[in-house]
Amino acid sequence: MISKIAVIGFGNIAKAIITPLFDKNLLNPKDVYCLVNTKKSLENIRKSYKYDINIFQSNSKGSEIIWDCKVKLLSVKPQQLKNIIELDNNNDNLLVSILAGVSLEKLIKRFPNHKCIRVVTNIPITIGKGLTGISWGDEITEDQKKLIRRLFENSSKIYEFPEDLLDIFLALTSSGPAIIALIIEALSDGGLSGGLQKKLSEELVMEMLLGTVNLIRETNLTTAELKNMVTSPGGTTISALRVLENRGLRSALIEAVVSASNRSKEFR
Ligand SMILES: NC(=O)c1ccc[n+]([C@@H]2O[C@H](COP(=O)([O-])OP(=O)(O)OC[C@H]3O[C@@H](n4cnc5c(N)ncnc54)[C@H](OP(=O)(O)O)[C@@H]3O)[C@@H](O)[C@H]2O)c1
Repeated sequence: MISKIAVIGFGNIAKAIITPLFDKNLLNPKDVYCLVNTKKSLENIRKSYKYDINIFQSNSKGSEIIWDCKVKLLSVKPQQLKNIIELDNNNDNLLVSILAGVSLEKLIKRFPNHKCIRVVTNIPITIGKGLTGISWGDEITEDQKKLIRRLFENSSKIYEFPEDLLDIFLALTSSGPAIIALIIEALSDGGLSGGLQKKLSEELVMEMLLGTVNLIRETNLTTAELKNMVTSPGGTTISALRVLENRGLRSALIEAVVSASNRSKEFR
């Protein structure tokens, strides 16, 4: 069982991380102290969240209690960070930030009385299929690492990186879903152009994507081998691939990932 934890910003991603821990009895809702910004969110969560957690509006009477927790999950939007004032002077407490693009250096400046950990996760975490990259700050003990891994392992697969690789991890895994959504949309439009109904076309594209990923995984084929398997001389597939090479799809995708990573570095 994980003991008392504070959640600063109980929005979509925080709920996706915390709720599976309640579902699996790994965390007691009574041990969770959450902070939100608005009265509206506070009331919504009280009314419709399926677990009875301790929840406070930021700066309200009694809300300082969240700073007593040894572990804090920081999950406000990056632009809201300036409003969070540290009220803790126990130097062994942990602050785990999931804020995109906010570096450990910035976190340590803002929360000098905490040991900081930077986490990057992605939107599929909301269905328990996230990818989470963790960069440990200084002086985090092995027991503390175990505890933090337990927070994320029920909703995502965990990868641990030095911080300078978190930008490219973010580019691939956090921007990736938007890139894939765009590809699904474009391929579906291709089906639509050929006379398929939009919904059917989209379903075919998604089933094809899932089948292809599973085939590569289950057979250990390389991507080049799979490509060769379905590309016959003078056939339809080489005709399609020729168009994509001509229009620079491969280079566009590489540059898209590099660009997202560079943008993430600019936020640091
Ligand atoms: N969305 C994604 O795809 C994604 C993926 C990975 C990581 N992230 C990261 O996850 C973080 C949270 O994103 P989200 O999508 O969960 O955002 P969200 O749903 O908007 O949640 C933000 C939460 O922070 C609260 N908050 C705002 N200002 C506060 C303050 N001064 N004190 C206390 N609480 C405050 C908000 O309360 P109110 O509702 O009252 O305003 C809300 O509960 C972001 O930093 C983002 O970079 C997002």
